[in-house]
Amino acid sequence: MASITIRNLDESAKQALRRRAAGNGRSMEEEARLLLAGLAELDVPPAAAAESVQPERVSTAPPAIAGFPAAGKRVLLILGGGIAAYKCLDLIRRLRERGVAVRPVMTAAAGEFITPLSVGALAADRVFTDLFDREDEQDVGHIRLARDCDMIVVAPATADLMAKMANGLANDLASAVLLATRRPVLVAPAMNPAMWAHRATQRNVETLRRDGIHFIGPMEGEMAESREAGRGRMAEPLEIVERIGELLDTRPKPLRGRRAIVTSGPTHEPIDPVRYIANRSSGKQGHAIAAALADLGAEVILVSGPVAIPDPRGCETVHVESAREMQRMVEAALPADIAVMVAAVADWRSKAEATEKMKKEGGKGPSHLELTENPDILKGLGHHVRRPGLLIGFAAETEKIVEHARAKLDRKKADWIVANDVSPDSGIGEKAGGVMGGDRNRVRILSRDGVEEWPEMGKREVARRLAARIAETLARQAAKA
Ligand code: CTP
Repeated sequence: MASITIRNLDESAKQALRRRAAGNGRSMEEEARLLLAGLAELDVPPAAAAESVQPERVSTAPPAIAGFPAAGKRVLLILGGGIAAYKCLDLIRRLRERGVAVRPVMTAAAGEFITPLSVGALAADRVFTDLFDREDEQDVGHIRLARDCDMIVVAPATADLMAKMANGLANDLASAVLLATRRPVLVAPAMNPAMWAHRATQRNVETLRRDGIHFIGPMEGEMAESREAGRGRMAEPLEIVERIGELLDTRPKPLRGRRAIVTSGPTHEPIDPVRYIANRSSGKQGHAIAAALADLGAEVILVSGPVAIPDPRGCETVHVESAREMQRMVEAALPADIAVMVAAVADWRSKAEATEKMKKEGGKGPSHLELTENPDILKGLGHHVRRPGLLIGFAAETEKIVEHARAKLDRKKADWIVANDVSPDSGIGEKAGGVMGGDRNRVRILSRDGVEEWPEMGKREVARRLAARIAETLARQAAKA
């Protein structure tokens, strides 16, 4: 198999393999075998490894993932020398399956960790390594490399590479390209935590940020070196992909200049220092709506109860526990053009929160809990002097859905109510709670003009459509005014 592979490699990959094999005193076949064994050890997905042995299959693009905002764009990927470079093999693949062309540049140090052969095979492009390669200069050259792309991604970005960038050094191809470019640059640092924390590195990071360089990571966690942990891990390939999507997203932003408040998740109402009243809300729908509004350009303040999901990107997230705290934070965020109250706010709280843990005391513990009603945040906004221009509530119902939702629309002075069936027999969601906690939803939008039924779909899709509808409504109102 190896001899077939090598015969089919393109000239530059063959040359790189020849140089490497000669340097290591091995045959080209042996070198290729060891390289592939190395890829397997580094846990490269089997499909990626297969592509690197069969370059003829690489030339056909991987199956496209539709709707990626940077599809059709060109990324120049500069690979620095660090163990995290292996993750960039996956990064290249993830970008290509989203329709992004990747042109790789490797520093000399990167070549110590991964090979131009695997990088070139996955990118389906030649790999540029040398500033003074006569062929490169005549053919492409560092100035053209710097210009013929939509953005540059540096991953992994070593302390050394960032120091060069911060100081304008240009003594190799990677740094010369970075100095010559006018395109946006995204840097994904990866290094030992002590190197990241060093004042010299932090000074360089500050300089680069001031120069308009974008950063992703480094993240906290375990390092490749044994017994090392801290901030220094490179961001995961899919996180980098998402960031590239955001930076290259040129879709219209109809909510730019609009401010939105979104509530999400449950609230926790304390009974005593260790117990609380809660509900099954996961926050998935509310967080997705916040993210969808931010995607359309809105400035979003998300007030979230306790949830187990990450803060959505592009929003300012305020974390709260109880309904009263949530109300305070929502009102502090006024004024707003849009408010979407998705949180499953607990209707009641314990009348007197015990300061010490309540004890059973031989069966003499409290036989009942005295409750009092929580403030209604949505209703409060509906009647507020600074009522948001478009006020949207949710209605979690288990029966008589439209009837109950309409009553809420009137009582709370909302413009729309998004009603969903949260009964376990709604047919959505496998566990008790149905829609609550699951990933799918089926909603009806009630307004004074009538009821609109949407088919069952993922919560992110509900969020995208709702955000689009909000944008259309505001645009229509603005046109009338
Ligand atoms: N809501 C709120 N503050 C509360 C209760 C509810 O802001 N204390 C909001 C929710 O975020 C949602 C809407 O009001 O947008 C309806 O919530 P829901 O729980 O369905 O209705 P309730 O008013 O609690 O009525 P009921 O429990 O009787 O169905």
